[in-house]
Amino acid sequence: MDAKGGSTWDEIHKMLSEATDYIKSQVRLEPKIGIILGTGLGSLVDGIEMVGTVDYDRIPHFPVSTVESHAGRLLFGNLKGKSVVCMQGRFHFYEGYSMQQIAFPVRVMKKLGIKSLIVSNAAGGLNPNFKPGDIMLIKDHINFFPGNPLIGPNDNDWGDRFPDMYEVYNREYQQIAKEVALQQKLRLQVGVYLGLTGPCLETAAEYRMFRGFGADAVGMSTVPEVLAAHHQHNKILAFSIITDMGLPDSMHPCSLEDVISTASRTEPKLRKLIAGCVERM
Ligand code: HPA
Repeated sequence: MDAKGGSTWDEIHKMLSEATDYIKSQVRLEPKIGIILGTGLGSLVDGIEMVGTVDYDRIPHFPVSTVESHAGRLLFGNLKGKSVVCMQGRFHFYEGYSMQQIAFPVRVMKKLGIKSLIVSNAAGGLNPNFKPGDIMLIKDHINFFPGNPLIGPNDNDWGDRFPDMYEVYNREYQQIAKEVALQQKLRLQVGVYLGLTGPCLETAAEYRMFRGFGADAVGMSTVPEVLAAHHQHNKILAFSIITDMGLPDSMHPCSLEDVISTASRTEPKLRKLIAGCVERM
């Protein structure tokens, strides 16, 4: 895979096969649901009955995580009776990975057998009704990255050349999430996630512009993985933890520590919500 993501699908299939063959030699569990854990959300896996783990750096062609707050392994197990594979640690565009590299683990999970993908992230809130520590169900997104993992040759057997974006975030899953949140007496915000490169947080002027675009939250991940997952016909459920507010008229300093500590503090609520959803998926 070159930095511009110029692999042919023959090459991608070969790399996918080598990666999945290795993983299957290490763990005997066919996952039905993939879960991608975001910043500060690594301990979401605590509720999973673990079957095995595979470190990213042992998997052929897998990118390796460079962010300290991300563990860098695939964790296989059972959650509420469903077989899952969890990415503990994800790959960000700002780390220098290409869109195709970010898509690769999502494609590996598809080849391992997943039908559904749950994605979580930490995000800045733009909607003034939100507050730090809220969980937002992502109902739609805006791709503000300067790229798309689907650019390049297309394998029509894997996914459509021009994917329809009518229902990227599965409606039935959204309904389940709302019902589970209600049962758990959890305030669940619903909104549009805007994904961009980072690594800078946004200026006040940018927050104002993105709010004007119709975004409720902004973050540096999720969109590339979701595009790859949607292309390969996975059903998607996604949540943001609102870790800080991007309100252009009341800006204050925000540190990575603030983001991680709010994500960690909110994580038990999200863990319970995800478990409740998985039970019904
Ligand atoms: N902006 C972008 N990404 C983020 C933010 C933010 O304010 N908070 C957490 N991730």
